[in-house]
Amino acid sequence: MKRLDLVVPILALLPFLLMLTNASLQAASSTDELGLIPAPQHVERLSGEFTFPQQLTVADLTGFSGVDRVISYLEDKLSEHAGIRCIRTQVKPFDKTAALVLTKSADGSLGEEDYRLEIRRNRIEIQAAGPAGLFYGIQTLFQLMPAEFLANSGSLPWPVKVPCVKIQDRPRYGWRGLMLDVSRHFFPKEFIKQQIDLLALHKMNRLHLHLTDDQGWRIEIKKYPRLTEISSWRREGDGHIVGGYYTQDDLRELVKYAEDRFVTIVPEIEMPGHCVAALAAYPELSCTGGPFRVAIEWGIHPDVYCAGNDQTFEFLEDVLTEVMDIFPSPYIHVGGDEVPKDRWQHCPKCQARIKAEGLKDEAELQSYFIRRIEKFLNAHGRRLIGWDEILEGGLAPNAVVMSWRGTKGGIAAAQADHDVVMSPTTYCYFDYYQGNPLTEPLAIGGNLPIEKVYQFDPTPAELPPDKTKHILGGQANLWTEYVPTPEQAEYMIYPRLAAMSEDLWSPKEQHSWDSFTARLQRQLQRYEALGLNYARSLFAPELSTEFDPKSKELTVDLKPHFPGTEVRVAVNEEEHLRKVTRPIKLKHTAVVKARAFLHGKPVSDEVRVEFLAHKALGRPVELGNEAQDDYTLTDGLLGTYFTGDGRWKRVKNEDFVATVDLGKPVRVSCLAVRCLQNTGRYVFLPRSVTFAVSEDGKTFTEIATIPNSIPPEGTATIVKEFTCRVPDLKVRKVRVAARNLGYCPLTKIKGGTDTWIFVDEIVVQ
Ligand code: ACM
Ligand code: ZN
Repeated sequence: MKRLDLVVPILALLPFLLMLTNASLQAASSTDELGLIPAPQHVERLSGEFTFPQQLTVADLTGFSGVDRVISYLEDKLSEHAGIRCIRTQVKPFDKTAALVLTKSADGSLGEEDYRLEIRRNRIEIQAAGPAGLFYGIQTLFQLMPAEFLANSGSLPWPVKVPCVKIQDRPRYGWRGLMLDVSRHFFPKEFIKQQIDLLALHKMNRLHLHLTDDQGWRIEIKKYPRLTEISSWRREGDGHIVGGYYTQDDLRELVKYAEDRFVTIVPEIEMPGHCVAALAAYPELSCTGGPFRVAIEWGIHPDVYCAGNDQTFEFLEDVLTEVMDIFPSPYIHVGGDEVPKDRWQHCPKCQARIKAEGLKDEAELQSYFIRRIEKFLNAHGRRLIGWDEILEGGLAPNAVVMSWRGTKGGIAAAQADHDVVMSPTTYCYFDYYQGNPLTEPLAIGGNLPIEKVYQFDPTPAELPPDKTKHILGGQANLWTEYVPTPEQAEYMIYPRLAAMSEDLWSPKEQHSWDSFTARLQRQLQRYEALGLNYARSLFAPELSTEFDPKSKELTVDLKPHFPGTEVRVAVNEEEHLRKVTRPIKLKHTAVVKARAFLHGKPVSDEVRVEFLAHKALGRPVELGNEAQDDYTLTDGLLGTYFTGDGRWKRVKNEDFVATVDLGKPVRVSCLAVRCLQNTGRYVFLPRSVTFAVSEDGKTFTEIATIPNSIPPEGTATIVKEFTCRVPDLKVRKVRVAARNLGYCPLTKIKGGTDTWIFVDEIVVQ
């Protein structure tokens, strides 16, 4: 709220406003201090504090069935994290007794997840219409405790106090989800439990587990043991085996754990595509018969389940029967995305099915596939949910659509009276990197800073009012192709999940970036207490560099990004960081390290800029025979692991030949060139690099050919430096020729035939 705007009206309406707004004006700042995320619908700060006694009377006056697990949860947390013992009673405690009272809302206006929380000096009351509401009231109570409450370290200051408040709260949407892709990389059960706890902290209530894909099958199916013997494991390019799976007991344990935290686990079994791992074990379910191996390439694979083979449906129904037995979720996700139709086009069985069913084409065959599975799920009392491709060829009658390719599919589905979960890539894809690609450790895919996540509104403005009821809510998705470890997953999820939780829970009118960032600081303290590896990208300084080829000087400009932060730097061996006030000029090889500080404390990760001065610095370059008008290859800045960082020079399907003119003959001792491999983007290391030099600038002498020994397969991003020593020679020009791989090893799997070479930088010493 902008206070200045209020000055004039406040003066004019003083008597009236004094009555009305005194509390809420104060609330604007003091309730931000409480650090509640997601923001409750209505918060009022009251004076005073409640001090927890060592033994707390907990009076349950609700009579809700299922309230017991909520009270047990409360008791366990208070005891484990604060050493507070709860004493249960079912009678209203005397007014003077410090107590926590759970009551049932009398007026019938509260929904299942709504709650009222009133904290007075002597008493805490949580009112709700059911156990879920009580649970969310408890979550808010926990957020009002000191952040150390969440740690299990004994660092909580005693006695524990919470501020007196009056809160009324309800979620904006019923579906507040996070998807975890446990197929591309397997994540241990304990990590999933931790995520469930964190979902609860954020008042989120759906955990969508992407259990199967081309690169791994993660759920034990008793009837098909090869799914876990074969499909759960893959041999990477370098020979080592990765994978894993959850037993049915593991999954039942997770379901129970989630249920106690009011989180529904929505299982996803992908079909008809993204199923190569399953086909590796049961190739007879494909159109060609295989053989297949569990995929080690990311992307869309052409082999899918055969839609003409009744065995396919028998298999999937058997699998889904076991899935439904484990997961009580009313929704079963069947994927449905990214299904190439080539195999179906050439398969006699699929073509016979198209004919027999009177289908128009392969798109309708996909629709037939999904409808047939939907019928099966519906007959067992479950609803089918799928990615928005299930709209193509006609939507199954009761299907729920998860809209990921923007909101178009979701809008079309809602228009046709289907329920929708919005999860567009633009706001919801947590595999996208968060900040400046030059300062992010995992810069892949698109860019999705937390500011953007905060702008997500699941209900598109263009949807007519009578259709908005079909928007069940929204979901963040973490695909894990490039996220191999729990630590990295945490980095990708937090704190962006805080923004997402507010998009999905808090009233739209409450949305305020300033208020959110003020409250976020408390949330980050909670993450610290939990030991989470959350991303500090939000605080990272703005970084820009400019190279001047004339002066051969690099200007490094570092500015604060997050309001209130200060950027401090150290150049080379400087021991202490100092405040930076103007751009830094570099003429010699140097390392600049910078960090953002807030209230005197470092809040960002370290940002590094490495400048490499060498003899070709600022010298002109020809690519092939074409003069370049930029200095990418001779600017002293090295390409990073990110293909889009602007520091790489690239050529497609040909050799990379670059010539640097040093201006006059100079003594040279060493030449080096760096190349990138990122197979997912069709960027491959060259077969070899040949260095040649010329003294007169016309005739060249070859001095070395350096072969590459790294195979063009595998999922790791690699930067390789090719170097050679130069005999005692005077050199005017240097020529580097990198030989293109010449064939695309992914052609059979991913269809593409291009082979790129990425080069940076040509270093002459
Ligand atoms: C998806 O991202 N392929 C649903
Ligand atoms: Zn087929």
